[in-house]
Amino acid sequence: MSKDTKESIYPHGLPPLPYADTALEPIISAKTLSFHYGKHHQGYVDNLNKQILGTEFAGMPLEKIITGAAGKAEYTAIFNNAAQTWNHTFYWRSLRPKGGGAPPEALQHKIETSFGSLDACKKELATVAMAQFGSGWAWLVLNGDKLEVIKTSNADVPITTGMKPLLVIDVWEHAYYLDYQNRRLDYVKAVLDTLIHWDFAAENLG
Ligand code: FE2
Repeated sequence: MSKDTKESIYPHGLPPLPYADTALEPIISAKTLSFHYGKHHQGYVDNLNKQILGTEFAGMPLEKIITGAAGKAEYTAIFNNAAQTWNHTFYWRSLRPKGGGAPPEALQHKIETSFGSLDACKKELATVAMAQFGSGWAWLVLNGDKLEVIKTSNADVPITTGMKPLLVIDVWEHAYYLDYQNRRLDYVKAVLDTLIHWDFAAENLG
C-alpha cells in the first residue's frame, strides 16, 4: 500500500483516483467508475470514520484497524468498512489505462514458476472470480515464496491471514453491473487483458 494509506489515521480520507474517471473506458465506463469511487468507496470511508469515533480504533492506521477488528463479532461493521476502504484503494491501483500485456521480467518469471505461464495465471484469476458466489474479490497474492490466486467474500482481505496481496479484481456487482449486467466473466477477462497493472503487482512483490 502507499505510504499515505499506511499512515492514514482518523479521520480517514478517500485517496484520489490514480486516473480520470473516463480513463478506463470502454472497459469500465465513467458512470460505473464515478459511482463506484464517489459513492461506494466514499461511503465505506465515511462509515468507518463514524464507527471508530470514540473507540480504541480511532488512533490507529487503517491496516491496524483491519487486523485488530478481523474475526471479532463485535467489530464486524468496523472491519467491513475498514477493509472495504483498503480493498478499493488497492483495486484502483491494480488497474491502469492501457494495462494488461506482459508483467516485468521478475514477476513474469515468478508467475511462470507458480502457474506455468501468464495465460494460466490469468485463467486461474478468471476462474476464481467466477467461483466467488456473491460479492467478493479475486486476488493474486504472495503466500510464503509462491504466488497464488485466491478469492475472498464480501470485505475479506488477505492481509489478515499473512498473505501479501499483489493485485485484486473487484467482483462485487457494483463493479460491473451497469456495463456488463450479469456477464461477470466478460468484465474480468477485459480487465485482465487491457487494464490490469502488472507493474503495480511487481512493486508489491518487492
Ligand atoms: Fe467495489
